[in-house]
Amino acid sequence: TEDQLKEESWFGFPMKVYQGFWCLNVLFEGVTSFQNNFEAKDSDIILASLPKTGTTWLKSLLFAIVNRNNLCGDLSKLPFHTKTPHEIVLHLEIEVYKNFNGTPPDNILDVPSPRLFATHMPYLSLPDSIKGSKCRIVYVSRNPLDTFVSIWHFYLQFEISKGVNPSKEMMEEYLGKYCTGVSPFGPYEDHLLGYWKETQKNPKHVLFLEYEGLKKEPKAHLKRLAEFVGCPFSEEEDKKNVIDEIIELCSIKSMKEMEVNKTGKFYPWVENKALFRKGEVGDWNNHLTTSMAKGFHQMLQKLPGWFFFYILSTQ
Ligand code: A3P
Repeated sequence: TEDQLKEESWFGFPMKVYQGFWCLNVLFEGVTSFQNNFEAKDSDIILASLPKTGTTWLKSLLFAIVNRNNLCGDLSKLPFHTKTPHEIVLHLEIEVYKNFNGTPPDNILDVPSPRLFATHMPYLSLPDSIKGSKCRIVYVSRNPLDTFVSIWHFYLQFEISKGVNPSKEMMEEYLGKYCTGVSPFGPYEDHLLGYWKETQKNPKHVLFLEYEGLKKEPKAHLKRLAEFVGCPFSEEEDKKNVIDEIIELCSIKSMKEMEVNKTGKFYPWVENKALFRKGEVGDWNNHLTTSMAKGFHQMLQKLPGWFFFYILSTQ
């Protein structure tokens, strides 16, 4: 089909259109083997997001929420000091299915319920076993301008590792791609709308969160999140400030200070510390000119009206 003929380069990584989204070639095998092999359980919790919208943050928050009671409330026993959030909560199409020729070792999938996994795949391309199950999907969205600035800084590490100096022209080139839908797992608006539509149809199946909302009112959002995944906070926990403790523990400031996040590499070309950059709302103001921001106009118009106004109000 026409789709299969489309190819693009994302910072030197080839991508092609697959089922309407841009799939990095290096992930293609993982994507299809996840689609063909994953068997969801009703108790599963799946974190879904576009890259750079708050995945790392939500991985740590969800893990803390789901596992806090197994640790007798002792949050210091959470493995955040020894593993990055990405090693703790695995991406299905990346870590789980990519390197295992179709079948991941049983111990990766055979973990106590509720199993917690992540994915960047669009809703429509999720395996039928997820769409047809009662598992819970948490979607985190983020305003597209900050998301672009974040993804730009992330992939810039790759350019720098090759000795390329970033230029304004290069940023504009990638901005042009991003705004016309050409980015990993994009188009941005299709991804967001796919999960947004599903949350409207079936709010028990998909919880839709915004990075900006989480930053502004973390406590209210954590309560919602914990209830949605079936691990609500008790009044006693609330009195003991457990929610505030989790927020503090998973904050970017605290995560940045952990030795495991300061050292080591996420990919051969990117260090773990690059996963925790600024974590602010509106950082795009520091990097994009007014005319560059106008590039997002068409994309913003396709987003749900409330989302559009919501992100405007947080900038
Ligand atoms: P910035 O580049 O704007 O700082 P993802 O985890 O989906 O890759 O998203 C990365 C973005 O989330 C980065 O944004 C990163 O700094 C931010 N981030 C990482 N950990 C965070 C945390 N604990 N709290 C808030 N933001 C965080």
